Amino acid sequence: MIDSTLGAYPHSRMRRNRRSDAIRRLVAENKVSADDFIWPLFVVDGANVRIPVDSMPGVDRLSVDLIVDAAKEARDLGIPAIAIFPFTDPAKKTPDGAEALNPNNLVCSSVRAVKAAVPDMLTVCDVALDPYTTHGHDGLLDGDEILNDETVAVLVKQAIVQAEAGCDTIAPSDMMDGRVGAIRTALDDSGLDHTRILAYAAKYASVFFNPFRDAVGSVKALQGDKRTYQMDPANTDEALREVAKDINEGADMVMVKPGMPYLDIIRRVKDNFGLPTFAYHVSGEYSMIKSAGLHGWLDAEAAMMEAMVCFKRAGADGILTYAAKEIALKLK
Ligand code: PBG
Repeated sequence: MIDSTLGAYPHSRMRRNRRSDAIRRLVAENKVSADDFIWPLFVVDGANVRIPVDSMPGVDRLSVDLIVDAAKEARDLGIPAIAIFPFTDPAKKTPDGAEALNPNNLVCSSVRAVKAAVPDMLTVCDVALDPYTTHGHDGLLDGDEILNDETVAVLVKQAIVQAEAGCDTIAPSDMMDGRVGAIRTALDDSGLDHTRILAYAAKYASVFFNPFRDAVGSVKALQGDKRTYQMDPANTDEALREVAKDINEGADMVMVKPGMPYLDIIRRVKDNFGLPTFAYHVSGEYSMIKSAGLHGWLDAEAAMMEAMVCFKRAGADGILTYAAKEIALKLK
């Protein structure tokens, strides 16, 4: 790609193509648009309830009616998809996370309400037990051990309940082995063959998730860490094997998570598989930028925008970001 004869042109000036906004726009290789976004939202019990998340400035937990309003805002801004995460009443949490299978839980109720009001809005639902378990883990626990196959059996049921509520994009985030294939088979057997799977394929055991755990109320509950099922941040070849496995099992789209410190993974996944590849700009990444902005240490709006274009440059086809609405507003 790089022409080694460039040195033969002593008058070549890189800065000519940077001289004005117009020329910079003309030669830009990547652009961010509202079309790129999945906007994650947190749902909580009640009506007309809006509870700020302390560790995520500008993000609120919303009751179902306000989730519907947010979906309308997303539609009006051209954002094609929302992701819905629940703050489960602690009284409803159990070691087995049974509330995940309740067809009237907060996620399923939100999906039904959003689909009724904004039928074209895509809805992404997490498949994992952590918002519903007393121990805060994504799977079933036996002593210190997260049980794999027993968990997958429950996740399959959770996915079916969500798809039956109208969820069009099932997003397993639990990192159990074999869950994508099991969910795909169950969806097909239930006549839900149009429901797609966005696999959290390369999901790392990251401290950048902490504000999210605050938002869904699992931060205090979580016993230990998730390193026996989420990936080691030291590894990259392993990410490709995770992605290959999920694709073989039927994933329609894959995700790399977290985002900003993992741009090399996004690039390798995109280059190797060419499947729609999403980056999750996770809660900690969002909050770092927001809090620095609140201190006046940087321009948070510009930093968010820069982060987004860098995701596109790294090869992401789309981005899950809590800043989706504010960026879409700015792009309008
Ligand atoms: C649940 C889940 C997590 C996130 C998305 N789904 C947390 C975790 O795995 O502990 C993190 C999202 C974020 O930090 O924004 N399995």
